[in-house]
Amino acid sequence: MRDFIVICSAAGDRIRPQDPGFGRFDVIARCVNAALWTSHGLRDARISFWLAKAGKWLIFSPEMRKVNPDERSILLWIGKVLAGGNNPGITLAADAFEQRLQSMAPRKAYLLDEKGTAVAKVEIAEDAVFILGDHTGLEKEHREIIETALKPEAVSLGRQPYLSSHCIAYLNIELDHGQAAR
Ligand SMILES: C[S@@+](CC[C@H](N)C(=O)[O-])C[C@H]1O[C@@H](n2cnc3c(N)ncnc32)[C@H](O)[C@@H]1O
Repeated sequence: MRDFIVICSAAGDRIRPQDPGFGRFDVIARCVNAALWTSHGLRDARISFWLAKAGKWLIFSPEMRKVNPDERSILLWIGKVLAGGNNPGITLAADAFEQRLQSMAPRKAYLLDEKGTAVAKVEIAEDAVFILGDHTGLEKEHREIIETALKPEAVSLGRQPYLSSHCIAYLNIELDHGQAAR
């Protein structure tokens, strides 16, 4: 299974439904859409968000039910799960930051970074783990822990900074092409 990890520096454990930008949960909702949806269903992928201000992980997988791909529906479900509600594919986990990273450690990891090696020159593993920053990029403290836990290879989609969700959509489509060619 493909994994995406997004470090969300502004996100805590509550949202304001009328203000999607609060805690930048709008970024999270767009990343969920990009990571999991194809036109007619859900991908065999998972996306985990480190909610830095809450010290918790919010994890989305294809087992989720009754969630639509639009930002409003995803935000509605985030609000429900943060308030203690259940959905089989949306989990709020109290694992420490490094604990969840270490649980993926045997796998090949790629840190999305404008200054990394051009992604076209890198052979991407089938069960890759991709790590991205949010709208503010990655803080030094988080980057150091990620580098120790996962020893990721830094890969770039070019010098132009893109939205995290666009990076995820691009990677999914590129990897689909690779799988189709095999
Ligand atoms: C919206 S960008 C943040 C860019 C912004 N310049 C900053 O760092 O403040 C969020 C994340 O997407 C990824 N990203 C954005 N553009 C990228 C690119 N061209 N190549 C690789 N990763 C990229 C990085 O992981 C980045 O932390």
